[in-house]
Amino acid sequence: MAKADLMDKIVSLAKRRGFIFQSSEIYGGLNGCYDYGPLGVELLRNIKEAWWRDMTLREDIEGLDSSILMHPRVWEASGHVENFTDPMVDCKECKARFKADQLEESECGNRAYKGRKAIKCQEEGKFTEARNFNLMFKTYLGSVEDNSNTVYLRPETAQGIYVNFLNVKESSRQRIPFGIAQLGKAFRNEINTKNFLFRTREFEQMEMQYFINPEEDEKWFEYWKEDRINWYKKYGMKKNKMKITVHDKLAHYAKSAVDIEYEFPFGWGEIEGIHNRTDYDLKRHTEYSGKKIEYFDDLTKQRYIPFVIETSAGASRSLMAFLVDSYDEEEVIKENSDGSKSSEIRTVLRLHSYFAPVKAAVFPLVNRDGMQDIAHNITEDLRKYFRVFYDDSGAVGRRYRRQDECGTPFCFTVDSQTLDEGTVTIRERDSMAQERVNKDNLKEVLLARI
Ligand code: GAP
Repeated sequence: MAKADLMDKIVSLAKRRGFIFQSSEIYGGLNGCYDYGPLGVELLRNIKEAWWRDMTLREDIEGLDSSILMHPRVWEASGHVENFTDPMVDCKECKARFKADQLEESECGNRAYKGRKAIKCQEEGKFTEARNFNLMFKTYLGSVEDNSNTVYLRPETAQGIYVNFLNVKESSRQRIPFGIAQLGKAFRNEINTKNFLFRTREFEQMEMQYFINPEEDEKWFEYWKEDRINWYKKYGMKKNKMKITVHDKLAHYAKSAVDIEYEFPFGWGEIEGIHNRTDYDLKRHTEYSGKKIEYFDDLTKQRYIPFVIETSAGASRSLMAFLVDSYDEEEVIKENSDGSKSSEIRTVLRLHSYFAPVKAAVFPLVNRDGMQDIAHNITEDLRKYFRVFYDDSGAVGRRYRRQDECGTPFCFTVDSQTLDEGTVTIRERDSMAQERVNKDNLKEVLLARI
């Protein structure tokens, strides 16, 4: 399948099945913003929950939820006011705006120059000089809209962690090395949003800052690099679709940095960054706030400003990677009502069962002989523990196909044997294999398989 077609198919499935909608669609949409539908919100929650559990169910990592709006000095100290910019140029004729470093990829929006690479228009003087454009969204605190009240929507969750380092260390009595994990919204006024959820203006990050003795930075950098790539593998991401890329151009705060990249249909793209941020952030906050942020090790009697190893993943970008990775089409043979056989294409999301938005679907084979009541009762019992979907419309084969597209790992079907001997079929999404299980312990059956 052509890669462009694959992306189109995923975007279309995401809308059709209720994963992702364009924001404010009835008004024509808002560029770079998306809404998560009934299945999308569950998938996103499951990804975030998996990350949160894996990060915080260990002795050396504490959780945090800091506010999105922070003191404006935070962003001066972090370097974002000065450095979080993209150079951009404007076309003097059509007024379209481009990232100056991406002109070779962009086309000028001017009708007169349709299909023409923007670089050409620049050479011919149709563009303004490059100017720096800050990517932070600004707003005002309180009722007076002037510069003294400017605050920013956070462009990363990390700074909320640094400014709370002392609070968390003292309240949790953690000793170095230890980490602080936070997940939440971040906002960037990206010049070019593109590729569905890949680069949006509002997104969620899952970040963890690990505070260490500066002498141990290389050891911990390697540890977290390994740990994070294994996290994606643990949830089923294909190994041959991931790679680690070392940054040759480092951000202003980093001593070393790598990206975990995923091969999307439009090419390789970063899903998570692992950075050795040194003591840059804590030092800068000490300087800008006047509050000493340091650590005293009472065993070794060393006093130092900790170094930080950061793991920074995009929740929405990971969701897109998991969607792409799990999308599959395969040819299957189906039996027709007259007994003949034909082939059809089955579309299936092979999501890890922990991530699957719906864990099981329950069907009565036919709508008679009390099968619906039994299926309803099973659904209600299972709903105390899992997200379960009841469906009694259409042929059972079509119901399976619908659930395959939603990534539902298991389907239970109530049939005439259920009436006779109290068993139902369980059908597994990936292999389509079926077996019979007792209808009275389906909770245990599901728990054992998820
Ligand atoms: N605190 C470090 C930091 O924010 P980053 O590389 O700018 O580093 C980390 O962002 C992760 O956040 C990226 O790997 C990506 O997954 C996600 N991310 C960044 N910008 C994004 C955007 N505009 N839309 C969606 N996800 C984004």
